[in-house]
Amino acid sequence: MKVLVTGAAGFIGSAVTEQLASEGHAVVAVDALLGGLYPSAEKVARRQRLESNPSVDFHQLDLREADLSTLPSSITHVIHEAAMPGLGLSWNDFALYESCNLSATARLIEAAAEWPLERFIQISTSSVYGKTAAGDETLALAPASPYGVTKLAAENLALAHWRDSAFPASVLRYFSVYGPGQRPDMAYRKFIAKALAGEKITLFGTGEQTRSNTYVDDCVAATISALTRSSPGEIYNISGHEERSISEALGIIEAEVGRPLLIERQPAARGDQIRTAGDSSKAQENLGFTHTVTLESGLARQVEWQRSLGDR
Ligand SMILES: NC(=O)c1ccc[n+]([C@@H]2O[C@H](COP(=O)([O-])OP(=O)(O)OC[C@H]3O[C@@H](n4cnc5c(N)ncnc54)[C@H](O)[C@@H]3O)[C@@H](O)[C@H]2O)c1
Repeated sequence: MKVLVTGAAGFIGSAVTEQLASEGHAVVAVDALLGGLYPSAEKVARRQRLESNPSVDFHQLDLREADLSTLPSSITHVIHEAAMPGLGLSWNDFALYESCNLSATARLIEAAAEWPLERFIQISTSSVYGKTAAGDETLALAPASPYGVTKLAAENLALAHWRDSAFPASVLRYFSVYGPGQRPDMAYRKFIAKALAGEKITLFGTGEQTRSNTYVDDCVAATISALTRSSPGEIYNISGHEERSISEALGIIEAEVGRPLLIERQPAARGDQIRTAGDSSKAQENLGFTHTVTLESGLARQVEWQRSLGDR
């Protein structure tokens, strides 16, 4: 198995790459180290870590424009994590989201036609379901942000290639991934940084919105398992099993940090999901996906990690 991981300097892609390497796989890693959503310094640090790993062949390139024929022609499996995530920015810069999430995917699929490809794992999101993402993969698709629209288009593109020419694409829809390494623009990372610094936390919406958070190690294990256990043409929800409100998560963070949180309330953010409660029975049955931690222990690990960073 020769695996290409795109978005390998990102939060989840770097964890997937390191886990694959630790399992003895040769990994081709690609990332453009884009800024914009969050400063690229964290990506640069992750690239350095990956470059020092003898099992990882890192290529800094932009999937939107680079010559992809420079990648090794022996790639058998692809985990396509690269994308522009984040709902908020997607309202302001559609071209960035369209190009990174859809056009880049089209170019990658085209390049993959030259490889002895066995599986192409297209990483998608609960945002394809829209404001409410409660249920299994048969839920209605109603994205409520440009981000969700471009990610839905990308999964449809990969599946169109499967229907047309048996391109071996499977889709994983991740639900709110958290834990050590989480992106600085994501809510829990921001809440914890502010809590540790004793600064005011901005809470968008009532706090009653819920999330079925997925712990990063569980997400990584499911993604790697999909390389060999997913069926082409199939879609799998990768979601935590506890539906917890943002207020509950804040309570856990408060207990973990050990001091009262200062919270400033703002109206709900544009496109924000009201409820996510993904049913991952299919991934549990077919990929062996499991949930290894409670939100309490997962957030405790994230607080510990952010303390070690001196995050604020
Ligand atoms: N983090 C979550 O909770 C979550 C939830 C649902 C889905 N996802 C999906 O998981 C994947 C990874 O997300 P993440 O949270 O690790 O985000 P991230 O921003 O940390 O990682 C994405 C990486 O892709 C790279 N990238 C973007 N466009 C590129 C391009 N044109 N060429 C090369 N590299 C490019 C970025 O530089 C970045 O390092 C994304 O596909 C995202 O849509 C994430």
